[in-house]
Amino acid sequence: MSQQPPENKQSMEQAGASDESIQKVHSILLREKPEPSEGYKPMPLFLLGFISTMIFICSIYLVHYRGGFDPLVYDERFDPAKAAGAGGPVELTPEQIVAMGKKLYNTCATCHQPNGQGLPGVYPPLAGSEWVLENDQRLIRVLLDGLNGPIEVKGNTYNGAMPAFGAAGYKWNDEKIAAVLTYIRQEWGNAAEPITAAHVKEIREVDNRTKPWTAEELAAFE
Ligand code: HEC
Repeated sequence: MSQQPPENKQSMEQAGASDESIQKVHSILLREKPEPSEGYKPMPLFLLGFISTMIFICSIYLVHYRGGFDPLVYDERFDPAKAAGAGGPVELTPEQIVAMGKKLYNTCATCHQPNGQGLPGVYPPLAGSEWVLENDQRLIRVLLDGLNGPIEVKGNTYNGAMPAFGAAGYKWNDEKIAAVLTYIRQEWGNAAEPITAAHVKEIREVDNRTKPWTAEELAAFE
């Protein structure tokens, strides 16, 4: 009745392995260790090739997209007025101002579109717009304080809300306002005089405005 199951019997036998069999197993294990080698192994050739190719590609990328390591290209918050140059604020070249304006235009492009054509019936075009090309006083005011209510652009009427870029929320300084306006006056076939930061500053101070303009109000500025 108390006969043990066959598996148990077997494991009992294994447990009682003899010294001899243990030594035999150990000697096999010891014998099969890999040969120790001296020195180091060279890097696999494909890895060397891969890393070199990556470094090569990265350098080409850097050469093409470094943007002259210009702070305006890399740092949106770069403030030319505060940058310490040789003896005072840095004078930006006209090309740098347009480059800065182009970058800032990304914010406008969501509404006015990258090609400056706007969206029919919703956002007015900037390309060929009389508001962009003609009166600089009105243009600066639209940007600084925003615009509400009906406005006619290139023969079509729009009635939306243009945000105030000089006020809370955006709070662009005079240089940024001037740069983006100079950019939209020269892009998409537009050809009008640049807008200076000094002019933006002057209008900001004269108006000290806190609410958006209407097209009607702006008509008063000749
Ligand atoms: C949220 C959408 C929006 C953004 C962002 C925006 N605008 Fe506008 N903009 C409008 C609308 C809407 C009008 C028309 C306002 C009206 O109907 O009174 C307008 C009008 C204008 C006008 C006068 C009309 C014309 O087409 O010439 C100018 C100039 C202008 N925007 C420039 C800009 C610039 C430059 C930027 C970026 C710094 C900008 N806008 C960003 C919506 C926007």
